[in-house]
Amino acid sequence: MLAILAVAMIPPALAESLEGDVARGRTLYKKCQGCHPLKPGKHNSWGPNLHGVIGRKAGSAEGYGYSDALQAADFIWTAERLEEFLRDPKAYLPGVTMVLKPLPDAQARADIIAYITAASSRD
Ligand code: HEC
Repeated sequence: MLAILAVAMIPPALAESLEGDVARGRTLYKKCQGCHPLKPGKHNSWGPNLHGVIGRKAGSAEGYGYSDALQAADFIWTAERLEEFLRDPKAYLPGVTMVLKPLPDAQARADIIAYITAASSRD
């Protein structure tokens, strides 16, 4: 309830400032790059390719061997879901094998998501 109130009380200007910045997101994506290619194609790395991940079913990158948790996940990645996942991956999807510290910085999450979205729209 408190959380809902807090969200409702964010003034529009602040909510807008959380719009992702693609350039900052590109720099922040270095946190992900070692494990996640972001170029079109089927190649995966330690983690699955994230090109086009938004709009894709969770656990469905071709040729990648996911954990049971991601194989069983029955949803489509949206920016909102990705946002929550990055806030605390293991809390969002118990059993996920991705090793990433929670990202408490909401602006950083928004920036990374903006960059993934922009990079995914390029061939
Ligand atoms: C140390 C390696 C590593 C890092 C760093 C990492 N990931 Fe992952 N990620 C993984 C692995 C491994 C999986 C697959 C987990 C599973 O099968 O449970 C995964 C899964 C994912 C998924 C689900 C993909 C799908 O196809 O359903 C998303 C989204 C994701 N990571 C985003 C990110 C983002 C964004 C970052 C950077 C902020 C990041 N990851 C950093 C290893 C990593």
